[in-house]
Amino acid sequence: MKAAIYDGPRTVTVKDVPDARIEHPCDILVRITTTNICGSDLHMYEGRSSFETGRTLGHENLGQVVEVGPAVSKIAVDDMPFNIACGFCKQCERGLTSYCLTMQPKPAMAGAAYGFAGMGPYQGGQAELLRVPYGDFNALRLGEDAAERQLDYVMLADIFPTGYHATEMANVKPGDQTLVYGAGPVGLMAAYSAMIRGAGRVWVADHRRDRLQVAEDLGAIAINTAEQDVAEVVKDATSGRSADNGCECVGYQAHDPQGQEDASLTLNGLIEAVRFCGDIGVVGVFLPEDPGGGDAQGELEARGKVPIDFGMMWFKGQRMGTGQAPVKRYNRALRDLIAAGRAEPSFVVSHELGLDQAPEAYEHFDARDEGWIKVALHPDGDG
Ligand SMILES: NC(=O)c1ccc[n+]([C@@H]2O[C@H](COP(=O)([O-])OP(=O)(O)OC[C@H]3O[C@@H](n4cnc5c(N)ncnc54)[C@H](O)[C@@H]3O)[C@@H](O)[C@H]2O)c1
Ligand SMILES: [Zn+2]
Ligand SMILES: [Zn+2]
Repeated sequence: MKAAIYDGPRTVTVKDVPDARIEHPCDILVRITTTNICGSDLHMYEGRSSFETGRTLGHENLGQVVEVGPAVSKIAVDDMPFNIACGFCKQCERGLTSYCLTMQPKPAMAGAAYGFAGMGPYQGGQAELLRVPYGDFNALRLGEDAAERQLDYVMLADIFPTGYHATEMANVKPGDQTLVYGAGPVGLMAAYSAMIRGAGRVWVADHRRDRLQVAEDLGAIAINTAEQDVAEVVKDATSGRSADNGCECVGYQAHDPQGQEDASLTLNGLIEAVRFCGDIGVVGVFLPEDPGGGDAQGELEARGKVPIDFGMMWFKGQRMGTGQAPVKRYNRALRDLIAAGRAEPSFVVSHELGLDQAPEAYEHFDARDEGWIKVALHPDGDG
């Protein structure tokens, strides 16, 4: 089968690899029809993670079940959450499927995902076929409109639940005034989710005009960090009281508008612009090691240490939630919002391409070229 393989920093190659297959009675085999490139893939693509060369990327997958193990009874078009979980460990029982203990082979670690640094040995879905462990648990069955609305449903694999998770950790309630850092696909999904939850006002801060335009089209207030001071805008609009809550949707490669990286930028921005006792949800990725961090930022950051204004955060009594999103906690409910026509997260998709075009898609998306906001690859066609 064909698969998009990580061949070292900034190199993705589409190659023939052995077909994915059933390896365990609870596995299912899925023929992938849509698979997205994520901002998380870019951290790996740039060589800024522990992701091993030769592995297949892709954790935002949707497709058709083509084979099931003898202990499985699933059928039809399914969507897989990017976490791989068992459903029966201590963490899964608590709904923390992104920190499953069974599927992560290292005893001191938790959590597993398809084609992801530090999250087990599983191959990604930017390929023709994908092995899904514990298929009954990990695959979400979709409705009859799934084939036509793939671009909406594929967002259930990661970024829609992740954006929603940011707003859950930030405790966004009806009427709230919510600040989102990052107008990438995840930030846009957080803004969208805040609105679904009834937020009264949502700001989205970024320095990319094309992405800010999408945020404005959604009904959010764009803050262009190249021209405006985020805390000033938010405080001016709230009689100095600041936002009720905030979502971090950028991660450790946060940078200023000129491109200078500083992993503390967005966290400190939120600590400053969220009110006393407000909640902050951090879904942007931060990692315990960053192989390129020494050059890009500093020795501390290379070891995953981010100096933040903790004194101010403590003084303000803020709370911060962090981590990979437990996609399964939300994807059934969000699926039903899509099915009911109440949510259409496909608005983030800017490009649909064939799997063969993965190398150029990575290049353009990584460069954040104008208009390249979210890429969906179709291994079963040419886009
Ligand atoms: N926690 C999870 O489960 C989870 C899931 C998916 C993605 N993520 C992470 O979420 C983050 C965003 O993902 P994405 O797909 O939207 O990526 P992306 O790279 O497309 O978007 C990031 C956006 O942040 C902007 N940005 C950079 N520095 C900024 C700053 N200082 N202030 C404001 N904006 C800034 C960029 O211009 C870009 O538009 C990534 O770190 C990704 O790995 C986490
Ligand atoms: Zn993703
Ligand atoms: Zn588990």
